Amino acid sequence: MSTAVMTPVELPYRLREAHSFEASGEKFLYLVPSGAIFSLDKIGKEVLHGLADRDLHKEELVQMLLARGHSAREIEVALAELEQSEVIMRGTAKQKMPTVPEKTFPLQRIVLNVTNQCNLACGYCYEYSDDKISQTAGKPKYMDHAIAEASIDLLIKESADRPSIHVTFFGGETLLNFPLLRSTVHYAKERCALAGKQVEFSLTTNATLLSEPIVDFLAEHQVGVTVSIDGDKELNDKMRIFHDGRGSYEVIVPKIKMLLERHKTNSIGARVTLSSGVSHVRRIYEHLTQEVGFYAVGFSPATANPERLYSIGPQKMSAVLGGFEDLAWEYRDYAVTGRQHGFTNANDTLKELHSGMSKAYPCGAGLGLLGVGTAGDVSLCHRFVDSPVGKMGHVMEGGVDHEARHEFLETHHLGARYDCHTCWARPVCAGGCYHEAFVHYGDTSAATLHYCDWIRGWNDLCLRIYGDIAVKNPAYLQRFDGA
Ligand SMILES: C[S@@+](CC[C@H](N)C(=O)[O-])C[C@H]1O[C@@H](n2cnc3c(N)ncnc32)[C@H](O)[C@@H]1O
Ligand code: SF4
Ligand code: SF4
Repeated sequence: MSTAVMTPVELPYRLREAHSFEASGEKFLYLVPSGAIFSLDKIGKEVLHGLADRDLHKEELVQMLLARGHSAREIEVALAELEQSEVIMRGTAKQKMPTVPEKTFPLQRIVLNVTNQCNLACGYCYEYSDDKISQTAGKPKYMDHAIAEASIDLLIKESADRPSIHVTFFGGETLLNFPLLRSTVHYAKERCALAGKQVEFSLTTNATLLSEPIVDFLAEHQVGVTVSIDGDKELNDKMRIFHDGRGSYEVIVPKIKMLLERHKTNSIGARVTLSSGVSHVRRIYEHLTQEVGFYAVGFSPATANPERLYSIGPQKMSAVLGGFEDLAWEYRDYAVTGRQHGFTNANDTLKELHSGMSKAYPCGAGLGLLGVGTAGDVSLCHRFVDSPVGKMGHVMEGGVDHEARHEFLETHHLGARYDCHTCWARPVCAGGCYHEAFVHYGDTSAATLHYCDWIRGWNDLCLRIYGDIAVKNPAYLQRFDGA
């Protein structure tokens, strides 16, 4: 008995996996296998329409397109381009997943939790709330110089031949341990000069302890600053309070204005944590940009077990997406006229979409980034510092535990997140934040399925905005090149 084997050339054409969207009256595809954005011309749209309901052999497609007035040459070129760009294909393609990186994947960033103490008692804080996963009992309250220096040495060693590395200072309240931050900046600069590497710094702070000498130091050493603030006095003071219940707004705003005035050498951004009573996106954005003076404002919903009263919940989350949508269109209007807009969430997503990113992991945790606790324990990221989950070594005792890190990366790879395999947003989402999954499902490897509609809605919106900018002011997108 003979079996006829069809060569790929004889097999019918079919559409590859894509998410279609329209912008400025034009049709685009977000190509899932490659993460690329493809603009369809007239013939491309006709091919897509022809293949929408069934596969077609080349002769059938060519006849259809000839009947619509295209020349044979035009058709040949169009089909070759659509096939090469992975819009159409013949036969079946094995689903492409990004690969698991080598065990020695070089580190790029380390987050030092320089203290586990805080002078505020924010209602949602994952470091102290009922969702707390770090176990700080018996650990030092403040990181010491030996641990910080060993962390820098480890980062330099583990960064292999990367020319540039990054140190982020975090807490608790980071500035409670400013003396360590200062000496670590000097140490890292000296060691990196010897190693021939560039080093950059950033920190996140509640702003209560900012002073002129601290700000001048941060400016001198070009330390990027993220300031946590949740809006105007009424909104900020719902959650961001001192231990005695006083709100922090009036203490921090003069200090933030002084920071914005004196520190011009690196980016300063506001970071808003949204919770059930604080979901007024435009009001917060306008207050922080127009009244306080920030150029950039980013929002993130509080990670919380759904039982917590401050948990944002599905209804408020839809309102938040509405607020994001409103600001994102404003970002679009600014971009088409070549102006900068400070809505960080839109800027970051457009940058990712522009780069054609196809993620194997939702973020750099455990990959290019690791967290370090006050006692020197290495973890998946700053949110898992001093937690039994995601422990990956010690800066002095053996360094990075490459076996533990590799096991984590194997089990958390997009290929292992089966729920995500048919989702068009997987190249940019890759399953969602490990901490969000752990707090919600008790499992870092679970996909954050409670956010899927929101994630797809947000990415669809950003694709439409990207398409609009690509049609009306493509030069604007050059700022994302190589970013
Ligand atoms: C843990 S704090 C540490 C640095 C500093 N104390 C501060 O507040 O900026 C870092 C950021 O995490 C945010 N955060 C705290 N708890 C959170 C939660 N449950 N979900 C999302 N973000 C949270 C804070 O609002 C802050 O912007
Ligand atoms: S200031 Fe930062 S670390 Fe302190 S309680 Fe608030 S969010 Fe948590
Ligand atoms: S978590 Fe949801 S939105 Fe994200 S890739 Fe998986 S299925 Fe898609």
